[in-house]
Amino acid sequence: MRHLIDPLDFTVEETGALLDLSECIAQNPESYSETCTHKKLATLFYEPSTRTRLSFESAMLRLGGSVLGFATADSSSAAKGESVADTIRTVSCYADICAMRHPKEGAPLQAARYSRIPLINAGDGGHQHPTQTLTDLCTIRRRKGRLGDLTIGLCGDLKFGRTVHSLVKSLVRYPDVRFVLISPEELRVPDYIIGEVLRPARAAFREETSLEKAMPELDILYMTRVQRERFFNEEDYVRLKDTYILTSDKMKNARPDLAVLHPLPRVNEIALEIDDDPRAAYFEQVQNGVWVRMALIMTLLGLTGKGERTC
Ligand code: CP
Repeated sequence: MRHLIDPLDFTVEETGALLDLSECIAQNPESYSETCTHKKLATLFYEPSTRTRLSFESAMLRLGGSVLGFATADSSSAAKGESVADTIRTVSCYADICAMRHPKEGAPLQAARYSRIPLINAGDGGHQHPTQTLTDLCTIRRRKGRLGDLTIGLCGDLKFGRTVHSLVKSLVRYPDVRFVLISPEELRVPDYIIGEVLRPARAAFREETSLEKAMPELDILYMTRVQRERFFNEEDYVRLKDTYILTSDKMKNARPDLAVLHPLPRVNEIALEIDDDPRAAYFEQVQNGVWVRMALIMTLLGLTGKGERTC
């Protein structure tokens, strides 16, 4: 039995196979409509979500399975003080696979130790978000045809943005990926990402405060929102929230084949006028999130290569 807690739980080869499967699914989703008949997915969300929870549910329903779960901690027995360990022991009796989002870093890892079903980290605090990373890799690969030899700008809240941490961890494994880490001083990427991820991988990176300056060199621009829910005081959030706003004016200096990604939700960091620019890829990301989560559910349930149609 396997879990997905950290993006590195899958090797580069396994990640490639999963992205290949998601591509097959994207080409012909109907052929997978009975792959998970009689299988149940539990979604345990202790923190708000639109895309991750609903895309997991959509993925399982499209595979012919069914879903159960809760969308808020206060509608579960967590409100009465139940631990994630006891909750997952319980849910292991009800479902075949589980996706868990939790505000506490490490909670899905803790749950996995007690789980009798595959457990997927659907985001833990400011730490990791491995299924968003699969979505991001899928989108980059579909746009660029490769995951190596790219200059990737990550812009905004690099301190609390778990999608950034997971994406960097995953992308350093591909050749010639260059990172431009664009943030205000207070929201720089955590030291562990530099000391334990970028430096050991000998990845090319630089820290930058100016989005305008970085723009002309980028193949991918990954915008992020400032994570209000992780700030200790509102004053700091208000001061920093609009540091970077991507506008058509700023896009004039970008490459014609730039791809703009954003894990969403967006607040104010991408002007609505960018949505019609062919370089905007963030709603494609949303769609790709369904294909990769279908592929992930199949992979963790061991349902690949067992007779269902693949491309
Ligand atoms: N990208 C993402 O995790 O979105 P949600 O918070 O809506 O799930």
